[in-house]
Amino acid sequence: GAPVTVDISALQEGQRLIVEWRGQPIWIVKRSRAILEALPTLDGELRDPRSENADQQPDYIQAESPELRSIKPEISVLVGLCTHLGCSPEMVAEIRPEPFDPNWKGGYFCPCHKSKFDMAGRVYQGVPAPTNLVVPPHHFTDDNTIVVG
Ligand code: FES
Repeated sequence: GAPVTVDISALQEGQRLIVEWRGQPIWIVKRSRAILEALPTLDGELRDPRSENADQQPDYIQAESPELRSIKPEISVLVGLCTHLGCSPEMVAEIRPEPFDPNWKGGYFCPCHKSKFDMAGRVYQGVPAPTNLVVPPHHFTDDNTIVVG
């Protein structure tokens, strides 16, 4: 499929924009400072905090902050399909009571079989999803324009 150009100038902190690329939902999420600060504290609860175990993201994403999985810290781009059986996870950007655990710092929750991911799409331990959500190939052409693909 052809690359998709997305204008993110209206994207507010805490919001998620959803576009389609190659028949897949692509999420573009603007993360708050609180979320960015929480991400490194979660590494011990995650299956693959540095995204090393599978081809889950382009090489240029890794850089010096593997917990962010992004080009710019605040802007996260993910394929919005659970890596278990492909359901669409829900975004849970704030702390919630049950069925979410009390230490929940926000992320994505798959209703099909209860897989949990953090706000970088990193999968928690002990859930059915085997790998982190996929970061699709993308780049910025200016501060408010992302090309996916
Ligand atoms: Fe998401 Fe099974 S499809 S947990």
